[in-house]
Amino acid sequence: MAKQVVFSGIQPTGDIHIGNYLGALRNWVRLQDDYDTIYCIVDLHALTIPQDPTEFEADRLRAAKMVIAAGVDPTTSLFYYQSQVPQHTELSWILGTLTQLGALNRMTQFKEKADQAGENLGLYSYPVLMAADILIHHAHKVPVGDDQTQHLELARDLAGRFNRRFGDEFPVPEGIIPEHGARIMSLQDPTSKMSKSDPNLGSRILLLDDPDTVRKKIGRAVTDSGSGIEYDWDNKPGITNLLEILSLFTDTAVDALVEEHHDKQYGAFKQLVAEAVVDGLAPIRSAYSSLEDAEVSRLMNKGALDARSSAEKYQVGVREKLGLTGH
Ligand code: TRP
Repeated sequence: MAKQVVFSGIQPTGDIHIGNYLGALRNWVRLQDDYDTIYCIVDLHALTIPQDPTEFEADRLRAAKMVIAAGVDPTTSLFYYQSQVPQHTELSWILGTLTQLGALNRMTQFKEKADQAGENLGLYSYPVLMAADILIHHAHKVPVGDDQTQHLELARDLAGRFNRRFGDEFPVPEGIIPEHGARIMSLQDPTSKMSKSDPNLGSRILLLDDPDTVRKKIGRAVTDSGSGIEYDWDNKPGITNLLEILSLFTDTAVDALVEEHHDKQYGAFKQLVAEAVVDGLAPIRSAYSSLEDAEVSRLMNKGALDARSSAEKYQVGVREKLGLTGH
């Protein structure tokens, strides 16, 4: 039987941090073993907030390199820049004609981003393009962080709507939202999610942070009053977040870690977490530094070529169903 298709995307804005890694990227890598995996740098989505073209070009390449350094193998996965595969935007337009404004009005991320960056039509229809990203490849599974569930729901809804109206075309995609790691919190405010756009750099650890920076950021992480290493999001969100990070980087269950470190001082515990993060990031840092820009660009162009031809095969069927075949 053919393998199921996994699709996911990441924006090339801001540097990728351990929240992105533990919540999504790491799972992208693992899914390569069991699925046909397709991953995308969603540069068109990033244009919904203003970008400086020169910096944007560099950001895109850096994001691609980080994804590869983190373990996505472009010879195993289909990996490319969204803007190089125009079928995404074609399908997005078509899906837009099936999207009710009410559904877009309910999107919480639109409201947040519109408040920050000003609203525009692209930002409003962002979830429709995301649905197109997923459906263009007939994806079955979509690994994402928990802030994407509302967008995913729209993709499912649009797949069903299209199928009912025009005949079966799209599988209805399901999210893969990890039980742990989907919400790594800010080191400076453990009640809000670690975010690329937080102005406070101490709030997040970047994949390429050097060991001393990692140690400093974790050393300064906000902890909780009292003492004791306990897993308790309500009363000890700072320590709980660090426990979560330690658990994911060491592949050890939180319970076992609590048992082992229960009586440690916060300071000693933070040191331990810092070393686990440093160790976990070391192979990524070293893979990143050995990647050549020109080679990565070549791989991305090749990825786009392959993605165009596989997307086009499906798009032919979509056009036929809509009466757009020209005969
Ligand atoms: N909206 C996603 C995010 O911000 C990125 C994204 C765009 C995506 N298209 C996608 C994720 C398709 C999964 C599938 O994280």
